[in-house]
Amino acid sequence: MTNTTKLCSSKPIVTVNGQFPGPTIVAREDDTVLIKVVNHVKYNVSIHWHGVRQLRTGWADGPAYITQCPIQPRQNYLYNFTLTGQRGTLWWHAHILWLRATVHGAIVILPKLGVPYPFPKPYKEKTIVLGEWWKSDVEQLINEATKMEQLLTPLMHIPSMVTPAPSLIVLPKLYGGYGLPVRPGKTYMLRIINAALNEELFFKIAGHKLTVVEVDAVYTKPYKTDTVLIAPGQTTNVLLTANANTGSKYMVAATTFMDAPISFDNVTATATLHYIGHTVSSSKKTVLASLPQPNATLVSSKFIKSLRSLNSREYPAKVPTTVDHSLFFTVGLGANPCPSCNNGIRLVAGINNVTFTMPETALLQAHYFNISHVFTDDFPAKPSNPYNYTAPVDQSVNAATMTGTKLYRLPYNATVQIILQNTAMILSENHPFHLHGFNFFEVGRGLGNFNPEKDPKRFNLVDPVERNTVGVPAGGWTAIRFIADNPGVWFMHCHLEIHTTWGLKMAFVVDNGHGPDQSLLPPPADLPKC
Ligand code: C2O
Repeated sequence: MTNTTKLCSSKPIVTVNGQFPGPTIVAREDDTVLIKVVNHVKYNVSIHWHGVRQLRTGWADGPAYITQCPIQPRQNYLYNFTLTGQRGTLWWHAHILWLRATVHGAIVILPKLGVPYPFPKPYKEKTIVLGEWWKSDVEQLINEATKMEQLLTPLMHIPSMVTPAPSLIVLPKLYGGYGLPVRPGKTYMLRIINAALNEELFFKIAGHKLTVVEVDAVYTKPYKTDTVLIAPGQTTNVLLTANANTGSKYMVAATTFMDAPISFDNVTATATLHYIGHTVSSSKKTVLASLPQPNATLVSSKFIKSLRSLNSREYPAKVPTTVDHSLFFTVGLGANPCPSCNNGIRLVAGINNVTFTMPETALLQAHYFNISHVFTDDFPAKPSNPYNYTAPVDQSVNAATMTGTKLYRLPYNATVQIILQNTAMILSENHPFHLHGFNFFEVGRGLGNFNPEKDPKRFNLVDPVERNTVGVPAGGWTAIRFIADNPGVWFMHCHLEIHTTWGLKMAFVVDNGHGPDQSLLPPPADLPKC
C-alpha cells in the first residue's frame, strides 16, 4: 500500500513498486519477459499482460480463477512469457476484483533491433496512461456494484451505480506532472492507454491533428484525426507534429464518451502541451480544446470506421476467409427475477443469456489436469431463447439469464467468427469486448440487428483493423474473426469493470493441436494454488 495524493485527496492505495501508475515495462519484439510478483498486501492479486498473446503460455496470462489461482498475501509468482511477433503499446493490470483501478502500467514493445517503424522515426516517444482517481476505496466500490443487484429499480437508479463519481486524471507517465513539453518542428509519438475502469474516452489536443499509426499493438494505415476514441483496455499510438512556436500552450484533454441515452457523469481530464525552447515566455494563454459531447456517436463511429490494418508486405493482415465456428453472441444487461429483493428484480449481465459464474479453481488447471465439475463446455453458440435484442428497453422475463461456468470449446487452428450483438435490455450501452490470447479482425459493424443474409456481403476481409478490444456499439453489432491457434483457456469479457462484475464474461477452451509446438506448455512449479 502506498499513500498517494491526486486531485487534492490522499489515501493509501495498492501499487506496484510504490508507483501509480505502475512501472513501464520496456522490451523488444520476441523478448522473453520475466516478472516476479511478490504480494505485500492483504488482498489476493494476479496480474494480466493485456494484449500479450501468451502463445502456449496461458499460465502467465493472469486473470484470477481463469488461468491461475490468485497470488495470496506473502506469496509470489514468476510470470514468464515471450513477446512472439508483437511490437507496440500494450499494458498490464491487476485481474482480480477491481484492483486494476490502481494496479496498472504500460508495456512498450519496441521493434526488433534494426527494424524501423513503418512511418518516419519520431523525435521522441511519450506514454500517456489515462486512469481514474476514485475518492472512495475501490473495495467499497465493488461492494456497491454487487449490492446494486439488490438495489435496482428500473432505470432511474442506474446513474447511482457509479457514485461516488471518479475524477479522471491524465498522467503523462514518463514525464511527471500534467504537462507535455514539446519542441517546435519535432514529431512525437504518443502511446495512449485507457486504463480507466468504466470510462470510454475521447482524447484531443487543441490546435493539433493526431495521426493514428497503431492500435492494440498492431500497425494501422496512418489516419489523421482531431479526436481519438479509446475504450477501457485499448491502446492507441499517434504521431503529433509540434508545429507551433516556443511558448505556446495547448490543452490536452480526455472526456467521457457515453454511447447511451443517459450520461453517468461527464468528467474531463486535462493537461498542457507546452512548447519549450530557448526563449520561453510563459505569458501565452493556453488554447482550449473543444470537446465532443458525451453522446457524440457520429464522432465515435467516424473514428472507428476509419481504422484499417496497415496490411503492407511486411505486416500483412491475415484475415481468415473461411469460418469453421460461426457464433452469434448477444451481450447486454438483463434482469433476473429476485423474489428475495425489494423490487423483485436483480440486475445481471450475460452473453447469450448466460451469466458467467466465477469458479473456485482456475479453469486452466481444471482443463490441464482434467478436474471435473469446475466448468462445462456447453456454452451456447446462439442465444438460448428467442428475443428481439435491440427492441426498446423491456424488463419482461425475456431478459432472464441462466447462470453457469460455461465454456465454448474450439479445436486447435479453427477459424472463428463471432457476431457480438448488443441488446437493449435495461440499458443499451457500448461494451468494449476484450479477448485474451488472440488478436482478432473486426470485419464488420452496424446498427440494429445483425442481418445474416445482407451484412456478411459487406464484410471487409482485406484490411480490417486488428485488435484485442473492440467496442460493441449501443443498439448495434460487430463481427470479429480470429484463428484459434493458441491452446489453453481464454477469457472474453466486457472491459467495463462493472459489467464484468455483473457477469458479462465467458471463456473459450482451445484444445492442443497434434503437431510439434501446438500444445500448452506444462504449468510452472510456482503456479499459485487455490
Ligand atoms: Cu485487460 Cu481480462 O483484461
